[in-house]
Amino acid sequence: MCGIVGAVGHKQCSSVLLDALKRLEYRGYDSSGIVTIHDGKITLKRAVGKLVNLDAVLSKGPLKGDIGIGHTRWATHGGVSTANAHPHVASDRVSIVHNGIIENHLAIRQRLEGAGRQFSSDTDSEVLAHLFVEALDSGMEPAAATQQVLAEIEGAYAFAVLTIDYPDILIVARNASPLALGIGDDACYIGSDAIALSHLTRKIVYLKDHDFALVRADGVAVYQEGGVPVNREAVFVAASPGLINKGGYRHFMEKEIHEQPDAIAHSLAAMTNEYGQLTAHMSDSALHAINGIVMLAAGTSHYATQIARYWIESLAGVPVACEVASEYHYRQPATSPYNTAIAVSQSGESLDTLMAMRHAATCNLSTIGLVNVPSSTIAREAGAVLHTRAGPEIGVASTKSFTAQLTVLLCFAVEIARAKRQIDDARAAKIHQKIQALPGLVGKALALFDNIRPIAHRLSHAKSALYLGRGTLYPLALEGALKLKELSYIHAEGFASGEMKHGPIALIEDGLPVVALLSADGLMAKASNNLREASARGGNIILIADADTLAEVDYASAVIEVPPVDPLLAPILLSVPAQILAYLTAVEKGTDVDQPRNLAKSVTVE
Ligand code: G6P
Repeated sequence: MCGIVGAVGHKQCSSVLLDALKRLEYRGYDSSGIVTIHDGKITLKRAVGKLVNLDAVLSKGPLKGDIGIGHTRWATHGGVSTANAHPHVASDRVSIVHNGIIENHLAIRQRLEGAGRQFSSDTDSEVLAHLFVEALDSGMEPAAATQQVLAEIEGAYAFAVLTIDYPDILIVARNASPLALGIGDDACYIGSDAIALSHLTRKIVYLKDHDFALVRADGVAVYQEGGVPVNREAVFVAASPGLINKGGYRHFMEKEIHEQPDAIAHSLAAMTNEYGQLTAHMSDSALHAINGIVMLAAGTSHYATQIARYWIESLAGVPVACEVASEYHYRQPATSPYNTAIAVSQSGESLDTLMAMRHAATCNLSTIGLVNVPSSTIAREAGAVLHTRAGPEIGVASTKSFTAQLTVLLCFAVEIARAKRQIDDARAAKIHQKIQALPGLVGKALALFDNIRPIAHRLSHAKSALYLGRGTLYPLALEGALKLKELSYIHAEGFASGEMKHGPIALIEDGLPVVALLSADGLMAKASNNLREASARGGNIILIADADTLAEVDYASAVIEVPPVDPLLAPILLSVPAQILAYLTAVEKGTDVDQPRNLAKSVTVE
């Protein structure tokens, strides 16, 4: 999703900004650009496609100046073109970069065009540049001009502005979209997140919604809604070493798949106290008070919540509803059966999830965030926070953050069950002991790459595939299908195995790949029957299962075998071969594994 960077007071501004944009590359984008002020004039370079293209343009014509802003754009309004790439410039006087959507841009544009202002892009964002020119034309100073612009625009935004009228100030503002200000020794910076600035400073000021700020080389002045000066404390964020380093792997995704034993172990440590006992870092009385949970998430995180529902309901007896975050907010949900909302998000910045969590709070639900980025907006706003410690995830398709989320959610389910006396301490400790074995089991599953390679080779020729599972493996089938389609662009759908006979079985024809997930739970016999039905109709069954399930299997054309595993943990372990299969299939097809087309890592628009 769009990334914003900026610097003021740094002599090699343009190259610092390019480095910062590289750190935001993982969010997904389709064009980029940088603008600086040099010799009193605005100088601009933009390019469509990857940052190497912008790099090449900058090598031919470097930008000078010690103040600048940069952007990676993920197209929303207006196609992918150089003219639509940010930064946008109006009247050779003001330049802006914007993340989000200005919802009333059409009305503003009509008004401005009616007043004779010329637009050069199809974007919603360009109105910001013209609005600032208009305000400056009327003699306003930066703070007043910003207030006037903010009063006119509606929607979600984080933006940065530079103008030749005030060549030592960056103007920034945010509402719903993330923005971080970095305080350096002789310069200040802005970035969509602290990761973008981690090579420059770790001292970060986070703006709150409706704040704006004037950023100078020697510091920042922050104003809240209405233009009242406000002090927002600086925080020191942890360094993220190795961020843009593939560590010898071909893709970030491959590296992140291999990092899962560590990601799970570290996340588990975050749920365990100094005596090695499981803890949700919430008091027993707070856990005991939970009488119903609505889980809010998007994409892969949503499938993690669907798996967690089985655990929380079966262990703790607490009802759980899993909601697609973008639907929950606008559905006017009847929330009375639930008193708790859990927002699950790797980035902690998905706007749909953030808005859904805020909506839950307005419905008087207690909010809990489960995030991988500790400094994220969801972490800052949630009433309580659980953490995955998967480390920075750069590949757009979630892997290690998914298995880390599942690990934390399973621990959480055990802790609610214990606090509510649904299970005793001995049973909780026994489950915890099994969970502790996960990093080792996942490590063994990583050895499957070579077994899966020929299966992926065959799958790469398919036009379509089905994924089937029952119980906790049903949401994993949905996640497996998502992974395959987003990475390899092969059409894939996941279904509950038992639901096949009610419609999807009509899709089965000779040779259709059917990826089946199986574990030795109480549903194994029924799931096997469903798979036999698919096989009898020509389905080409690729079975992902643990060794304990295989004795009865006589219908698979390929088997991916993981070590024996307790059915409770099966969705976590079986995730790994499903990820490897999607990854290797995408590699076979030669797609852009780490940044699949049209996708963004952190989606900060609705
Ligand atoms: C985007 C990404 C997905 C991710 C989803 C939710 O769509 O492409 O991989 O699962 O956002 O992201 P979150 O950071 O909220 O978990």
